[in-house]
Amino acid sequence: MSVVKTLGQFIIEKQADFPYAKGELSRLLRDIGIAAKIVNREVNKAGLVDILGDAGTINIQGEGQKKLDVYANEQFISALRSGGECCVVASEEHDDCIYIESEISKNAKYIVAIDPLDGSSNIDVNVAIGTIFSIYRRQSTNGKALISDVLQKGSRQVAAGYIIYGSSTMLVYTTGKGVNGFTLDPSIGEFCLSHPNMTIPKEGHIYSINEGNYVHFPQGVKDYIKYCQEEDVATKRPYTSRYIGSMVADIHRNLIKGGIFLYPVSAAYPKGKLRLVYECNPMAFILEQAGGGATDGFNRILDLTPLKLHQRSAIFLGSELMVLKLMDCLNQTNKEKKQVS
Ligand code: AHG
Ligand code: MN
Ligand code: MN
Repeated sequence: MSVVKTLGQFIIEKQADFPYAKGELSRLLRDIGIAAKIVNREVNKAGLVDILGDAGTINIQGEGQKKLDVYANEQFISALRSGGECCVVASEEHDDCIYIESEISKNAKYIVAIDPLDGSSNIDVNVAIGTIFSIYRRQSTNGKALISDVLQKGSRQVAAGYIIYGSSTMLVYTTGKGVNGFTLDPSIGEFCLSHPNMTIPKEGHIYSINEGNYVHFPQGVKDYIKYCQEEDVATKRPYTSRYIGSMVADIHRNLIKGGIFLYPVSAAYPKGKLRLVYECNPMAFILEQAGGGATDGFNRILDLTPLKLHQRSAIFLGSELMVLKLMDCLNQTNKEKKQVS
């Protein structure tokens, strides 16, 4: 008889691996898991309760906020506030960091960066959406936390994860010792370990990119797309193209099946679209932990130093050999450019 392991049980079992005080990070992860269940309930009944549609407010990136973005943001922040382990939240939905200075949080050691609702353009059409989170340990030792506590390199993350609200709801996370996935069993209201030790295939056959922006892509990216589309039996090309438009869902599929996700710079987004602190870094950490790679085309994503909270970056991440092949294409055009100038 198989024994179900819940997220709570798993976290406690694994907390011996944490380098710092055991209970705090466990409680923080538990708080995020609880908020995820509340958001999931709302996502599931969204069509019924007229929660869909614009909230009528604009976030810092100038994008319209959907009501579920606002709702998810509130739920995660309130769970982190009442949990007492988090001193700063950095959210896509807030211009500035939120400093938590309540009595129960006065010794809190963790910083959480969050994209509460990823894939908002898919809310109205019943397509998978997600939440992305990243956890750092504060570096400053006393008083109010500093912005430098938030703007740490991705390589300093102590944990990261995502929740995918899809045909089933899953929570996938890493604390730097591999990646584990939990599926929500709605009948008992618990995330249960369903995907232990997730690894991404070294080689994949799926590429995920918004090809509508093709004319604006750098030449190296165009060359890589051409490579993916060429006929070659030995390497199983042409590859399959799959693009959902929710980063969480696209990367989750590629993590399981093998593939590469690309969001390069383009005319509309000259620095890339996705946000380094709460989209690129956590996804890069998870994929590296699963055996894949993540780059901005020049550097490893996790080695970039964020200068601003809402900083954007180009990102390419997925199966190791696909990322290497892409880098060949990018380096080739960089070399040719240098020779011309
Ligand atoms: P968000 O909904 O948090 O703003 O993120 C949307 C992001 C990401 O999920 C997705 O991969 C990307 O935007 C899609 O962008 P395009 O529509 O430009 O392809
Ligand atoms: Mn997002
Ligand atoms: Mn979002």
